Amino acid sequence: MKLWGGRFTKEENALVHNFNASISFDQKFYKQDIRGSIAHVTMLASSGILTDEEKDKIVEGLTGILNDVESGNLEIDPTAEDIHSFVEQTLIERIGDTGKKLHTGRSRNDQVALDMKLYTRDEVKETDELLKALLNEILLIMKDNTATFMPGFTHLQKAQPITLAHHFGAYFEMFKRDRQRLSDIYKRMNYCPLGSGALAGTTYPLDRELTAKLLDFDGPTLNSMDSVADRDYVIEFLSALSTIMMHLSRFSEEIIIWNTNEYRFVEIDDSYSTGSSIMPQKKNPDIAELVRGKTGRVYGALMSILTTMKGLPLAYNKDMQEDKELTFDAIDTVKGCISLFTGMIATMKFNKDIMENSAKNGFTNATDAADYLVNHGVPFRDAHGIVGQLVLFCIDKGIALDDMSLDEFKAISPVFEEDIYEAISMKTCVEKRLTIGAPGIKAMENVIKINEKYLAES
Ligand code: ARG
Repeated sequence: MKLWGGRFTKEENALVHNFNASISFDQKFYKQDIRGSIAHVTMLASSGILTDEEKDKIVEGLTGILNDVESGNLEIDPTAEDIHSFVEQTLIERIGDTGKKLHTGRSRNDQVALDMKLYTRDEVKETDELLKALLNEILLIMKDNTATFMPGFTHLQKAQPITLAHHFGAYFEMFKRDRQRLSDIYKRMNYCPLGSGALAGTTYPLDRELTAKLLDFDGPTLNSMDSVADRDYVIEFLSALSTIMMHLSRFSEEIIIWNTNEYRFVEIDDSYSTGSSIMPQKKNPDIAELVRGKTGRVYGALMSILTTMKGLPLAYNKDMQEDKELTFDAIDTVKGCISLFTGMIATMKFNKDIMENSAKNGFTNATDAADYLVNHGVPFRDAHGIVGQLVLFCIDKGIALDDMSLDEFKAISPVFEEDIYEAISMKTCVEKRLTIGAPGIKAMENVIKINEKYLAES
């Protein structure tokens, strides 16, 4: 049955019905729809628009529908137009005429605006919890690896030595910002659109403050046209999800590189790898690759809703029904990716010796050799040139700076003394970098403490 058959004389064409219907995807928020309806009738009774008996009967009916859908006793009718129609229709079937009063002072426009907001709000929270679990895992790895040396890269070329804790710490900051973005979105979106009607409010004395309170909002929205036409929070959430995916994708890319036979910095656990159907020797980093690959799909959802909204005149237009499918898909995709990624790094093995050797063999201490000369009075530009000559000499001989004899050092610059070895050792190179944010062990321990406190408090 249609909610709006009255002014129509012909049956709806079947193709039109299917094209128009949203039940196949908006049934995802049956819980939110029922929760919103219960708040709405509670408010209607408290404002004297329904009697308490009517309210009780409707609430009981709605609660029964909720329980029956959850337990599998009630199947959501796939031929209904949308979840709002299904719930209302089922209510009327179950409790009779009183059920017809549910929609008093409400339009599907403010109803769907509410449902989508409640759904998104729940998902913002769940995404945040998954990110927190990921951050906890990253922090554990950081704590264990403040003295695990590895090369830091620029241009994917070895640059300066860092530690594994420092490298993971970079991602800690990214995912921390992602959580902050989610909490900003939550605050901004947390106003209740219900009571806005189709676009111009209603003539009933609705208590919108009460509805907002019953649904844990910070208050009612302040413009009824904006309320039914606003999908900013979906766009903001998809934008935050896209940024999370961008971070996960960069991290995945690094892990894929580190996991190659050429690098062997890490070994992804068997349980998070897959084999090849033809090449028996292969163990592929499919999970990391899929996380990287699914990023495009989430960006796609963001582009889609931005494009849908850009030409819409106020207030509600049916185009806005397109806010759901890709958004739901993007949310599920990101949540899956965060969980799998967390499991993958929790079980990953770090080949610390290989990392340390790699840092030693890439002239990552060249800057420190130049700093040594500067500390002995050589202007930096000259020091840069001298160390360039040392590097050429080493490349020619196939050795590292640390392997040169003191005579060889002195042949290029007499300023070098025995203490050069200490000055360019990996440990010194890292340990001297002690400003906050740098990889030095003490500096890292300080940052770990700050981030431990952050996780305990949020
Ligand atoms: N399925 C619709 C949507 O998702 C519900 C709102 C319908 N409102 C209307 N005026 N046809 O947007």
